Amino acid sequence: MPVPEKQISLEEHVRELDSELSGLICAIGGMTVPLRNEFPHRLMGVQNAPNKYGEVVAELDSWANGFICDSLIKTGLVRKIYSEELERPLTYNASAPFVVTLDPLDGSSNIASNNPFGTIVGIYKKDLPCKGSNLVASLFKLYGPITTIVLAAKKGVHEYVAHRKGGHKYVLLHEKMKLPEKGKVIGFGGDITDYPDAIYKYTKILVKEKKLKLRYCGAFVGDFSQVLHYGGMFMYPALKSKPEGKLRLTYEGIPMGNIVEQAGGASSNGKISLLDVMPKNVDERTPVYVGNRELIEGIKKALT
Ligand code: AHG
Ligand code: MN
Ligand code: MN
Repeated sequence: MPVPEKQISLEEHVRELDSELSGLICAIGGMTVPLRNEFPHRLMGVQNAPNKYGEVVAELDSWANGFICDSLIKTGLVRKIYSEELERPLTYNASAPFVVTLDPLDGSSNIASNNPFGTIVGIYKKDLPCKGSNLVASLFKLYGPITTIVLAAKKGVHEYVAHRKGGHKYVLLHEKMKLPEKGKVIGFGGDITDYPDAIYKYTKILVKEKKLKLRYCGAFVGDFSQVLHYGGMFMYPALKSKPEGKLRLTYEGIPMGNIVEQAGGASSNGKISLLDVMPKNVDERTPVYVGNRELIEGIKKALT
């Protein structure tokens, strides 16, 4: 993945896209430094009420959701926001072009331990629920040792980083990212003793025979980034006790499935691409398998 010689700003790099889409993407990039700077001041505490998944909501989940939604409204380009942290979608001026899906803070359990977490965004023109193949763009932000943005907007997958030379604006770090041919890492979420036998057996083959190294950080964005850079597979599979798995199809699976597929990899719910699943509702969960095509084909075969 070539790191460009010249500083190319996010604004310049997305200029070739539809002007409203590039405007929205630049606004999402522009809010990242102030968002990240706030984290140390909002680390503690959890909300009293659980979210619609019955999960504990960290203060930071809720604050990040509010901050991002306010910033999206100010663009005037978003008519509706569906968020993992909102009971119902927020609606604004009906004439605005985009509908946005949001996992405002992915990997909340990593906040207290200062491990990676991030934000996952899907951008549509159509209203939801609809298939992920209708995405016009998706991106994730990874709040790691450095904060990066990885974007897929029909012209390949590109990674950006805020850089002092760019006036702390986002500049291109990696262009036209592709998963390496030969995968190196595997991340598997959930309780492995609750894996269906076929998945447990295949996981053992990937580790023992394919020699994939275990890389699991507990945040989808962090584990996904490992696969994007080193190749391999991440899965939060169907479990015996929870056949639908844990991750959310609309807020997590589809936007990240779009990125891995545009980077030459594959995504699946165990049967079909995550982008081909017709969500019954925006809040449903799905098993998630993302990574090199041959490994995803292997999990699908193991499950037939
Ligand atoms: P979120 O913080 O948005 O709820 O997402 C957490 C998800 C995902 O990031 C991660 O892969 C998975 O939960 C980890 O689940 P376990 O804690 O069950 O391993
Ligand atoms: Mn998440
Ligand atoms: Mn979340």
